[in-house]
Amino acid sequence: MNHIRLSVILFTISVTFNSWGAERKPLTPPLMPPEFPQSPFGFSKGDEKRGELVYQRNACPSCHIVGGKGGKVGPDLSRIGETKTLPESYRQQLANSHKPPVILPQQDMDDLITYLQSLKLLK
Ligand code: HEC
Repeated sequence: MNHIRLSVILFTISVTFNSWGAERKPLTPPLMPPEFPQSPFGFSKGDEKRGELVYQRNACPSCHIVGGKGGKVGPDLSRIGETKTLPESYRQQLANSHKPPVILPQQDMDDLITYLQSLKLLK
């Protein structure tokens, strides 16, 4: 019985140490090769103008107001770019918590997010 307990303890220790090791890896900022149009730092290489078209064509205005125009089902997005900055947070919200989920081809999503990021009181 004791040797089972011992091996459980050893196993736990080795798992713990392994994950410590993983966490202690130096935090170098990830490099963003050109094939990643969105960096996690809020820069965005999407096309804002095209993103506006994506926005118009995917029924977003039927529920959201931008610049005074649109439906009132969802929140006004006229200044969304001021509160939400990271591309990843848009991506997460639109794909996971938004109802209906916004599923778009990669390029459309990148452009849409660039457009949303640009929605500020002062551009
Ligand atoms: C059927 C109505 C509807 C449509 C169509 C719709 N939305 Fe929404 N949206 C909502 C509602 C309701 C919320 C608030 C609750 C939530 O997050 O699901 C919301 C929330 C959001 C938010 C978060 C706002 C905040 O203040 O954090 C964003 C960004 C957004 N929508 C973008 C879009 C985009 C882009 C499109 C088009 C691709 C779209 N929505 C289409 C109803 C809609």
